[in-house]
Amino acid sequence: MKRVSNKTKIVILQGSPNAKGNTVILADEIARGAVTAGAKVEKFFLQNLNIASCNACQSCQEPKAKGCVIDDDMDEIYKATLEADAIVFACPIYWFTMSAQLKQVMDRFYAFVTPDGGHRFAGKRIGLAFTFGGDDLLDSGCINAIRAFQDAFAYIKAPITGMVYGSTGAGSIRKNKALMRKALELGHQLAAK
Ligand SMILES: Cc1cc2nc3c(=O)[nH]c(=O)nc-3n(C[C@H](O)[C@H](O)[C@H](O)COP(=O)(O)O)c2cc1C
Repeated sequence: MKRVSNKTKIVILQGSPNAKGNTVILADEIARGAVTAGAKVEKFFLQNLNIASCNACQSCQEPKAKGCVIDDDMDEIYKATLEADAIVFACPIYWFTMSAQLKQVMDRFYAFVTPDGGHRFAGKRIGLAFTFGGDDLLDSGCINAIRAFQDAFAYIKAPITGMVYGSTGAGSIRKNKALMRKALELGHQLAAK
């Protein structure tokens, strides 16, 4: 494990409404790995925040725009993610894709698209974490969420450092020791400069 400066900042966006659920358990293991490797971690539990959906007003795309015009808790997330070296997107699979809590936040990152077609997340390291009740990637629809994030971050030019995902069909995700180890390791990787 490579030790890093404690200045490495990681933001975790947690998109399950279940504060003690599997997604939080998995995301917290990533956080534990990152903190062990010397990083600073800030977590956002999206369910408890007041975040409106993007209304497609396009104000954020006007030449002198200073970001999104909606005044809500996204302001904190905008600030924290811009300062972050790495961002983790964690959510349960709902209806064969990412949860609405996380999709809503993804839409609001439209405000970070720059006039030249770039994005203010370019170059940041990305981690992904998903839990689902189905048998596997295809059966659960987790593959759709993965594909959506792969396409989004290829467009944004932010490299996906790693992803962890697993079924909770057999009970708590904590029982899946191999997955928990992978989550811890992803935390280490995200913390490395
Ligand atoms: C509204 C809803 C929709 C769901 N849709 C799916 C689905 O499409 N595929 C799947 O495999 N599991 C689905 N599940 C199961 C959850 O993804 C699974 O239980 C997940 O681990 C819950 O995470 P949590 O413990 O963090 O809440 C759904 C659960 C809910 C509540």
